[in-house]
Amino acid sequence: MCGIVAYIGKKNAKDLLIDGLRSLEYRGYDSSGIAVLHNSKIELVKSAGKIARLEEKILSLKAPALVTNSVSSNFNSHVAEKINLALETSTCGIGHTRWATHGIANDTNAHPHQDTEANIALVHNGIIKNYLSLKQELEAEGIQFRTETDTEVITHLFAKQRAGKADLDALRAVMNRLEGSYAVVILVKDQNKLLVAKNQSPLVIGIGEEENYVASDSSTVLQYTNKVLKLKDQQLAEITETKIILEDLYGNEAKIEVHHLVQNTSIQEKGPYKHFLVKEIHEQPAVTSLMLDQCLANATKPITGFEQLDVDFKQINRIVFVACGSAYHAALIGKYLIELWARVPVDVEVASEYASKQVIVGANDLVVGISQSGETADTLAAINNAKNAGAQIMAITNKSDSAIYDLTSPNNYVTPAGIEVSVASTKAFVSQVLALYFLTIKIAEDRTEIDLTEIKQGLRSLPLIIDQVIERAEDYKKQFIKYSNYRDFLFLSRGINYPIALEGALKLKELSYIHATGYPSGEMKHGPIAILDQSVPVLTIAIDGKSKFEHSLYEKTLSNAEEARARKSPSLVIACDDNQDVTGLFDEVIRIPNIDQFLSPIIATIPLQFLAYYIAEELGKDVDQPRNLAKSVTVE
Ligand code: G6P
Repeated sequence: MCGIVAYIGKKNAKDLLIDGLRSLEYRGYDSSGIAVLHNSKIELVKSAGKIARLEEKILSLKAPALVTNSVSSNFNSHVAEKINLALETSTCGIGHTRWATHGIANDTNAHPHQDTEANIALVHNGIIKNYLSLKQELEAEGIQFRTETDTEVITHLFAKQRAGKADLDALRAVMNRLEGSYAVVILVKDQNKLLVAKNQSPLVIGIGEEENYVASDSSTVLQYTNKVLKLKDQQLAEITETKIILEDLYGNEAKIEVHHLVQNTSIQEKGPYKHFLVKEIHEQPAVTSLMLDQCLANATKPITGFEQLDVDFKQINRIVFVACGSAYHAALIGKYLIELWARVPVDVEVASEYASKQVIVGANDLVVGISQSGETADTLAAINNAKNAGAQIMAITNKSDSAIYDLTSPNNYVTPAGIEVSVASTKAFVSQVLALYFLTIKIAEDRTEIDLTEIKQGLRSLPLIIDQVIERAEDYKKQFIKYSNYRDFLFLSRGINYPIALEGALKLKELSYIHATGYPSGEMKHGPIAILDQSVPVLTIAIDGKSKFEHSLYEKTLSNAEEARARKSPSLVIACDDNQDVTGLFDEVIRIPNIDQFLSPIIATIPLQFLAYYIAEELGKDVDQPRNLAKSVTVE
């Protein structure tokens, strides 16, 4: 995985590379590095940790006194001066921010990587599946590897292939040896150009006036140009300031298709908030309100927003959701809703599993990928697998400029959640759940006579209720921080809120590194109960409902919570204001405004976002960029 960026033109490369890396940090932040071309030599700086550490290291080259000991560079003053001069003057370079796959996150494994002679520098996003056999082959030829990365094989293979070949031919020969995914940018010592290659990992070229940019995503280059060339799989290119030679794996010239994208110059700011996570939690009323205005302006009229779909829902026999992480939890709610109201059988599959299964689907099955980023490799592979097996495909995504959107067009619904910066999903998750309510209504309206007016009216009240929940944040904080020092948590619920138990546990895990698991309440007695004692708090989501069925779910959920209490577990419950029967039964009653059980998942999830946030803050964790995670996971 990782993010890559490159520049060739007349401006200072270092500044553009650092800016690019910052906008790509959502793809990984274990280490970063840049390499620039100067006087026919390559100079390189890289550092473990976030991009801020790389910046400090760069600063240390010119002003060692300004830098803390923890990042003091190992360069002697002559070398520092030389690198600094190159960084200040170079107009051609490459950069990389890493999410470690092969090899720990240290300076050595950070990209760019070089060949033995330091003739080239290379950055890579993806995974080379056959790197071990290639490494053995190269080692047998006497090449000494310096890193634990899979990437290093590409540098040595390319250096070897360059002997006697034009660079694009050498790169093509390397591509023919590689199995797996890669987006690669190469800097060559004595040549003012960039070489790029792509297979399965995203790579775009931003075309400017006497300058060109390369990046893992278009939003990175859109700050500078709206003319974007999206490389296709197995394409390679040579890029100078003024020229792009694009070829395929067979040496044929490929057509340069330039997309004119809408320029997005909005820089994400935290505003009055300490973290993006809190900012994004606070954006949820606005996001849901916008979605409702777009699709459900009038509760008595049919739902809108799905007109572009080329799917006849009357002909669909089965729906399969494929997704990862929070999106997977949203999908579970979608299953509940569609089966309940639209009466179509739904399966929900973890995308990474579905991607490599012999799937049984036909032309009347609809496989729907749900992905905030639209770039998650597992979800992309799962949708592709379904497509190849003959299913119809669709996507719910937050990004119209994404691989999953392109793959499923015109069958997609784009959530207008806006850019979500914080790695842990909040507003994007809520928008996915709301989109699934909309999709359910659409399918139900196409296939059934069921009257969903009341549900639609209920949905229209969501933004206001979310607002009311957010206003209670300070009360929640007092209730939650008492639980910061527990090491394990269990989250329980039933029916439509079972996925929210999973999501609450995931949020807590991601943000605070506390071990947390979500379970269907009824399943607790079949194993998890064994871990319960006074050291394991159990949080139950118990929302009553109007119907006999909803009420019986609620009662059963409470009785399972009682079983946990009987094992001395500290007990917390999320309950509506009027559910007085929980008082006295739980150590901590977390109140949310009254809401019907069928509409409660979105509301019940908000206090759980705060739970994870306040505990993480109390423990001093990195709220927006938790360790080991990445916002967009572009490797399988
Ligand atoms: C990563 C993120 C999760 C996210 C998951 C799926 O693991 O850390 O927060 O839910 O990817 O991402 P997607 O972009 O496909 O929704």
